[in-house]
Amino acid sequence: MVLLSASFFAALVAIAVATQAERSAYVIHERRDTPARGFVKVGLAPSSHELTLRISLKPNNIAGLEKELYAVSDPKSERYGKHLTLDEVVKYVKPTSEALSAVNSWLDVNKITAKIISPAGDTLQFNVPVSKANSILNAEFSSFTHSDTKETAIRTLQYSLPADLSPHVAYVHPTTSFTNPFVTPKIEPFNINGKREIDPSCADLTTLECLLEETGIPKRSATQKNNVLGISGFSNQFAHQSDLKDFLAKYRPEMSSSAKFDLQFVDGGSNTQVRDFAGVEASLDMQYAVGLSGGVPLRFISVGPLNDDKASSFLDQVNALIADNSRPTVLSTSYGFNEQDLTLPVAEGLCNAYMQLGALGTSVLTSSGERGVGGNSWFCDTFLPTAPSSCPWVTSVGASQTILENYTKNNFSEVAASFSAGGFSNYFKAPAYQEADVSSYVASINGQYEGRYNKAGRGIPDVSAQGVNFVTLVSNEWNLASGTSASTPVFAAVVAHLNAELIAAGKRPLGFLNPFLYSAAGRAALNDVSAGNNPGCDTSGFNATVGWDPVTGLGTPNYVKLRKAVGLV
Ligand SMILES: *[C@@H]1O[C@H](CO)[C@@H](O)[C@H](O)[C@H]1NC(C)=O
Ligand SMILES: *[C@@H]1O[C@H](CO)[C@@H](O)[C@H](O)[C@H]1NC(C)=O
Ligand SMILES: *[C@@H]1O[C@H](CO)[C@@H](O)[C@H](O)[C@H]1NC(C)=O
Repeated sequence: MVLLSASFFAALVAIAVATQAERSAYVIHERRDTPARGFVKVGLAPSSHELTLRISLKPNNIAGLEKELYAVSDPKSERYGKHLTLDEVVKYVKPTSEALSAVNSWLDVNKITAKIISPAGDTLQFNVPVSKANSILNAEFSSFTHSDTKETAIRTLQYSLPADLSPHVAYVHPTTSFTNPFVTPKIEPFNINGKREIDPSCADLTTLECLLEETGIPKRSATQKNNVLGISGFSNQFAHQSDLKDFLAKYRPEMSSSAKFDLQFVDGGSNTQVRDFAGVEASLDMQYAVGLSGGVPLRFISVGPLNDDKASSFLDQVNALIADNSRPTVLSTSYGFNEQDLTLPVAEGLCNAYMQLGALGTSVLTSSGERGVGGNSWFCDTFLPTAPSSCPWVTSVGASQTILENYTKNNFSEVAASFSAGGFSNYFKAPAYQEADVSSYVASINGQYEGRYNKAGRGIPDVSAQGVNFVTLVSNEWNLASGTSASTPVFAAVVAHLNAELIAAGKRPLGFLNPFLYSAAGRAALNDVSAGNNPGCDTSGFNATVGWDPVTGLGTPNYVKLRKAVGLV
């Protein structure tokens, strides 16, 4: 028998302690038990597969930026309309020097070169093979297949960071967030020359003329060249110029048939003009945005496929606009996902980017979702709020429709469109501007749906607009499209016209809208929708009521009243 010396044992113990110390120097940063619904793990990710990861550092003073946002967006504030400059915004968002040195030394130790991809320098991106990502993050990157699309996402259910770095980091992405495919608007083919059985009035079909009359949007042409309405395009949705031209020829022949839009590309975006490739969402959004906001310059902002991950695509778009001196004054986004697909830090990071855009003076409108209290999902137990709609710094838009009975163009009633998604965020609490509305709505339903939603959450939508049966030309074929996808560009066009008038009068554009919309003057300028509901998750959903409700928000736009409410005479 060989006797082992005491010093040999001491050495073994020392090695064990060192390994222990190294391990304990890592702390779990984010974890989840299972992938998001719809995804199935199929195995470990190939170790040589190259990942593009981003690490986002915490902003140094986001509470300070929130205060600034309110100061420039609340009509009661002295500084209303005095939007921040990019330098002023960056001061609040940039990471601390401790955070930067912690992340740089971690990158150095691991021989990683990263590039900064956000204006405030808070997000860094680098490429590493799966094997290295697993070792530097104590992760297990695996392949997950989506059951409908069969697309593969490489994710990990858990990752760790060194204990001295973790407190400075918001998230590493894509790791534990999963995004389901976008839900597109509902469409049916429409025979434009045929005779429809049902009443061909505006109560059945929605055309530009109906919307102009019902909202009161002026027909005269806006004159401000620097007041741009931006329309988001994701997911290979292309807007076709010829479809737009033919659409306008039919429904707004007085508008120049050369009405065009500009393009901005992010992450390898494009706007192919092969007519067969036009997308329903892009066609619907652009045709109604151009047709309603005659004269306001339009920009189609196409985000391309360089990120296979939707949360990154959204963030890259917002960051590109933050950095852009000629950024739109209004951004309309008719795409979204379920909030729970994202982890809280990723949802918060995206929301912080919208906060920056709001502080800079851009109004952001996002669709609330297409499946009632199910958000964008048919299958749900608890109700599913949608992102980025649930971010308190965007204006979430639901949908309504006119009632057929007794319809006349200047005296019509609206009810909620049954698909209009609405509910309460599980991540963001009700912000100051709507706290009272949320608590009184929750009190009014008397314990109904207890446990299915977060009673203190930010409520969506904020407002609504008509969203049913929009006549739309897609790849030279007429369709009827319905969704909050349709209502969002309508509300955005209203805001773009208000901005055009404000700028022409020497005033500032509206910027972040919600403190104004929820003010007494704002709500009085909206048509309250108090009938209908938004079924989903095998329930009848919430009811629209007098005042704010999680179906149609505060109501639909009345241009004539809104222009007075924003101080135009
Ligand atoms: C339509 O008009 C009739 C007759 O005036 C009235 O009884 C009915 O309530 C009206 N319907 C609606 C939805 O207003
Ligand atoms: C609008 O229609 C309603 C319901 O049919 C009717 O009661 C009301 O008097 C009408 N209002 C106007 C201004 O015509
Ligand atoms: C919602 O509306 C339906 C139909 O009007 C009604 O039966 C139900 O009681 C309402 N729910 C609540 C919570 O008020």
